[in-house]
Amino acid sequence: MFLYSFKMHNLISMQDIKKEDVAEILHRAEFMENVCNFKVKYDKWKNIVLGNLFFEPSTRTRMSFEIAMLRLNGKVSNFAEKLSLTSLEKGENLTDTIRIIDSYCDMLVIRSPKAGTARRASEIAEHPVINAGDGSNQHPTQALLDMYTIKKLKKKISGLNIALIGDLKYGRTVHSLLYGLAMFNANITLISPEDLRMPSFIIDDVKDINKNETTHIKEIYDKDKDVNKMTKEGKFDVIYLTRIQKERFADIEEYEDIKDAYKITKDAISDNTIVMHPLPRIDEIDREIDNTKNAAYFEQAKNGIPVRMAIIDYLLENFYKDKK
Ligand code: CP
Repeated sequence: MFLYSFKMHNLISMQDIKKEDVAEILHRAEFMENVCNFKVKYDKWKNIVLGNLFFEPSTRTRMSFEIAMLRLNGKVSNFAEKLSLTSLEKGENLTDTIRIIDSYCDMLVIRSPKAGTARRASEIAEHPVINAGDGSNQHPTQALLDMYTIKKLKKKISGLNIALIGDLKYGRTVHSLLYGLAMFNANITLISPEDLRMPSFIIDDVKDINKNETTHIKEIYDKDKDVNKMTKEGKFDVIYLTRIQKERFADIEEYEDIKDAYKITKDAISDNTIVMHPLPRIDEIDREIDNTKNAAYFEQAKNGIPVRMAIIDYLLENFYKDKK
């Protein structure tokens, strides 16, 4: 009998990742918080070089990967501040670019506006590849830091009532998060305008993969429904808001028509609800919520460092063990 023995080397989609791998990464992230706070010294990856390739704007993901690697005592090379200064401008294709950077670095982190780019890079590169967001497809490292934040603040994921709200069609963070939450038996409510519903193929896939779990997924979709009333009545443990992804709309009028439909006010938040958002936000969250105990989005962004340290650590460890 053939036994699959290779460990996880790449992180491309939450669709591929096993529950044990998620649990291990979340566990390592707790340890990495102590490394960040200088309580523990950890320099296993000293002089290992991470290549950061961002073909789309980013503040949190790019910087937190860079800082995560520096906190692990590794080194970072950023592909370019401007793509116009690279040889892609001269017509070099992405395959050659990945092959060359893979030969310079020990690990690649890639963000692209095109779905599937990170997976393609993982097929070209010999070293571990991490998807830092590919078009409106997946953003698995965000999902892991979201899950870490929920677990840290609510002490569990299983059995929690969690609402994912806003642009569920184009929002890659919620695509990834749905896979992750379903693995851990959360009760999930998807709330969106009808035109921005979670793609049905994702819901079907999540249900299929997790058919042995007790997750429930419910959908509410209507632009004219009062999202604050739904949030108040839902008494959710977690509400996770997303930005309407202007850059993904082919028709800007469609965006203008929908953009203000999903704004959460302070009154809609129950006492024990935590409010999350992958950021950047536009107007989805009433700024008055920022100074309440319910606001979890700044802590969430901060958790990006220990969680990305844990991801780097786990993938490199698996890679070098299997290489022996
Ligand atoms: N949440 C997130 O991916 O943020 P950035 O686009 O700033 O990386």
